[in-house]
Amino acid sequence: MTSDVVTTTPKSAATATGDQTALTVDDVTVRLGGRTVLDHVSFSLTAGEFTGLIGSNGAGKTTLFKVILGLQPTTSGSVRVGSGRRTHKDIGYVPQKFLLDPDMPLRGRDLIALGLDGQRLGVPLPSKTRRARVEEMVEAVDAGGFADARVGRLSGGEQQRILIAHALISRPQLLLLDEPLANLDLRAAQDVVGLLSRIATEQRIAVLISAHEMNPLLPVMDRIVYLAAGRAASGTVDEVVRSEVLSELYGHHVDVLRVHGRVIVVAGTGHDEHVPDEQAEHHHAGEGPPPVEIVE
Ligand SMILES: Nc1ncnc2c1ncn2[C@@H]1O[C@H](COP(=O)(O)OP(=O)(O)O)[C@@H](O)[C@H]1O
Ligand SMILES: [Mg+2]
Repeated sequence: MTSDVVTTTPKSAATATGDQTALTVDDVTVRLGGRTVLDHVSFSLTAGEFTGLIGSNGAGKTTLFKVILGLQPTTSGSVRVGSGRRTHKDIGYVPQKFLLDPDMPLRGRDLIALGLDGQRLGVPLPSKTRRARVEEMVEAVDAGGFADARVGRLSGGEQQRILIAHALISRPQLLLLDEPLANLDLRAAQDVVGLLSRIATEQRIAVLISAHEMNPLLPVMDRIVYLAAGRAASGTVDEVVRSEVLSELYGHHVDVLRVHGRVIVVAGTGHDEHVPDEQAEHHHAGEGPPPVEIVE
């Protein structure tokens, strides 16, 4: 069975020549503890596009981010950032579950500035340039009203804005965010999604954001990478989020329902050899197996 179930023509014609490609993931397989966590995953991202990496718990989203960041070796396959060699400077990253102590004496503005350090060994930027770059980032994420408050005391949505600015200040080509909406209420999630979509377009950055729920991302996703049991399908939402495509990906029948503008993926619980047992337990802790697994 092929891993890249859907292959589509890129939105930008320039992609065909390669100069707009911000990331290429080529046939990546990762085996951990005897288990195949990523199984021949292939897709590419284009500068200026917003892509959602969608998959339920245990699908392999965080592992894929670690592979892209060079923190997780692959069993086979390769990753290329931009058109050349990967460097840390080229990737901005907002990790999953980033916890900030409420009493930590660090202002939002200070945390943003830390994104400039560790990127350039050797000559530091002059302090005037640093301050201007921080100010530019504060404005880019609309953080002017809270950038001087202690980061640990900010709301979830405000902290996300600071972390996004922290990741963007080194001017990466690629911005990765691992489940940044997980602890936000609907309104804050919509604001963060709108901000990221604007940043992708205005700064010509490829934004890849993981989520276990695709609905908040539907209005802004240029493309989707759907992960199930470590395998990926990529393309536009209309191309990928279809019963035929997802059924092939899961290896058993899946229904895709559209209800009041929302998408609901209903995957039958027919035994799937790719799905680890722990994953099934995550979904239905203590309830026994239900007749269907509702992914969204
Ligand atoms: N170091 C590891 N050793 C063994 N299995 C791992 C390791 N890290 C992750 N996994 C397994 O890989 C699968 C994917 O995990 P992860 O990438 O964290 O998924 P997601 O971020 O989509 O929830 C899970 O089944 C998880 O248990
Ligand atoms: Mg994860």
